[in-house]
Amino acid sequence: MMWWRSEPFDFGGAAGQAHLKVRGLSAGYGPFLVLRGVSFEVKPGLTVILGPNGAGKTTLLRAINGLIPRQGEVLLDGEELPEKTHEIVRDGLALVAEGRQLFPQMSVLENLELGGWLVPKAERQARIEQVLNDFPKLRERQQQLAGTMSGGEQQMVAVARAMVSRPRLLMLDEPSLGLAPRMVDELLGIARRIADAGTTVLMVEQNVKKALAVADRGYVLERGALVASGPAKLLARSTVIREAYLGAASSDTTSSAEAARRTREVA
Ligand SMILES: Nc1ncnc2c1ncn2[C@@H]1O[C@H](COP(=O)(O)OP(=O)(O)O)[C@@H](O)[C@H]1O
Ligand SMILES: [Mg+2]
Repeated sequence: MMWWRSEPFDFGGAAGQAHLKVRGLSAGYGPFLVLRGVSFEVKPGLTVILGPNGAGKTTLLRAINGLIPRQGEVLLDGEELPEKTHEIVRDGLALVAEGRQLFPQMSVLENLELGGWLVPKAERQARIEQVLNDFPKLRERQQQLAGTMSGGEQQMVAVARAMVSRPRLLMLDEPSLGLAPRMVDELLGIARRIADAGTTVLMVEQNVKKALAVADRGYVLERGALVASGPAKLLARSTVIREAYLGAASSDTTSSAEAARRTREVA
């Protein structure tokens, strides 16, 4: 059995296709500024953010979600997002953080119920039912303690839990980290299907090739700044991506600044 059902997913799309605009976003930790005036857009569909370790990808998701202080504008469908996390959940955002953060001593079902903590009980049950329809393997495993599942299985629970809040914008921070190749494919397939069902998805990924193969658009973040962007298919062929991330032989005559400039032209 696959992790998801073969028919299109039910969830998402309820409130229409969300559009995120970020303008001049700066954020960091205490005096240490990580992001310096980042501006970008997340249109309906699947957008991926690529970049090396330490570039600020997680910091970017934290700042959007109000988990750390920020400066600049974060607009969801033209409306400024509040900086408080519980208000953000109400506004239709969900974040699956690095490391999944399930409650290991609780069952799969209990973890899913926590995903709907702000939803009235009757509606929460209906949403969980919908999510279990979309993830039939989780229905089989609903009584299993989350902590006894494999890494890939836990990641599925984390994504399913986020979908119980029926977000308009789902953010995934390196969902495939540490997973076996087949599980990576399944997870990226799920991200694609969630986007197709009407929830806008913003995903940070290390699997550059596989992520660009499922995404609509991509951005490359390096040292706290966006250095390239464009349709996923074009980015996958761009010099900056091929040289820095896909292991193509680097040319002595092409500086990385030159490569970045060319990629911007592709966008
Ligand atoms: N809680 C923190 N306190 C201080 N510095 C942090 C913290 N988290 C991350 N950093 C620093 O911020 C920078 C960006 O980190 P991060 O956003 O996690 O990068 P990425 O997700 O792209 O690997 C790094 O230099 C990292 O060391
Ligand atoms: Mg990170």
